[in-house]
Amino acid sequence: MMVTAALSVATIALMCQFALALPTETQAADASVDFFPVANGGGSMLDKSGGLGEPLNVIISAKSSSAVLTKGGLTLFAQAIGFSTECLGLHIGDPQTANLGDGNGDVNEMGVWRADFGNIAVGTCLESLQGGNHFRAWTQNGSSANSGALFLAANCLTQIQDLSQHHTIIPDGYNIGRDELVAAAVGTHKHPILPLKFTTTSTSLTGLLAAGTQGVNHNISQDGIVKLLTVSMKISF
Ligand SMILES: *[C@@H]1O[C@H](CO)[C@@H](O)[C@H](O)[C@H]1NC(C)=O
Ligand SMILES: *[C@@H]1O[C@H](CO)[C@@H](O)[C@H](O)[C@H]1NC(C)=O
Repeated sequence: MMVTAALSVATIALMCQFALALPTETQAADASVDFFPVANGGGSMLDKSGGLGEPLNVIISAKSSSAVLTKGGLTLFAQAIGFSTECLGLHIGDPQTANLGDGNGDVNEMGVWRADFGNIAVGTCLESLQGGNHFRAWTQNGSSANSGALFLAANCLTQIQDLSQHHTIIPDGYNIGRDELVAAAVGTHKHPILPLKFTTTSTSLTGLLAAGTQGVNHNISQDGIVKLLTVSMKISF
C-alpha cells in the first residue's frame, strides 16, 4: 500500500515536471529594458488579494534568457533553486491579481511556486512555520509595456487552508520571503533532473515601491526594496 502510494506520487512528480518543462509559450519580449515601471501605465507594485495587496518585491529582468520568462521556464528555474510548483503541493488561497501598467489591467497570477523542504536550505522563514516561503508571478506583456519581465510577489506568510484554517502571520514576512528567494537564486544552480544551469545576479531597486504598511496585507511593514534578478539559462550536461 505504502509502496503503491509512493510510486504514484513519483509518477505524478515526473509528469508534472515534464509537462511544465516545455516552454511552449512565446512572447515578443523587448529585451532592451529590464522592465517598464508599472506606475507609468497606471499599475501598482502591490498585487490584489481580497482588498489589500502583497508587494511585488522581485522582478526577473526581461534581459534574462527568454526561455526563463515563460511559465514553463520559470518552473525549471524555480526547481533549480529549491522551489516546486503547486502541481505536487497544495493550492495556496485564491488567485491574486496584479496590474503591471502594460495595458492588460488586472490579471490573475500565472501560478504559485513553493519552497521545497526537501531541497532548499532551511532559513528563517522555513524554520518559523511550515508551508512558508512561496511566490506568485505575473508577466509584463501587455501591448503598451511589453517588456516580457516577470514580477513576483514573494513572502513567508502561510495561507495553506488545506492544512490549517489559521493564517499564521510572520512579522517581516515580505522582506524575509524576498531575501530567502534571492539568496537561493543568486549564483549558479543546476536543475535537479534536466541538463540545465541557471546563473543569476541581483540588484536592489528603490523608488518603485513605498516602504511601510500602506495598502499592504496583514499590516505587515516591508522595506520597499525590490530585487531585480537577471537569470541566464544554459544547457549543461
Ligand atoms: C502574457 O502572459 C500570460 C502569462 O504567461 C499569457 O497567458 C498571455 O497569453 C500573454 N499575453 C500575450 C499577449 O502574449
Ligand atoms: C498596524 O500596526 C501598527 C503598528 O505596527 C499599529 O499601530 C496599527 O494600529 C496597525 N493597524 C491595523 C489596521 O491593524
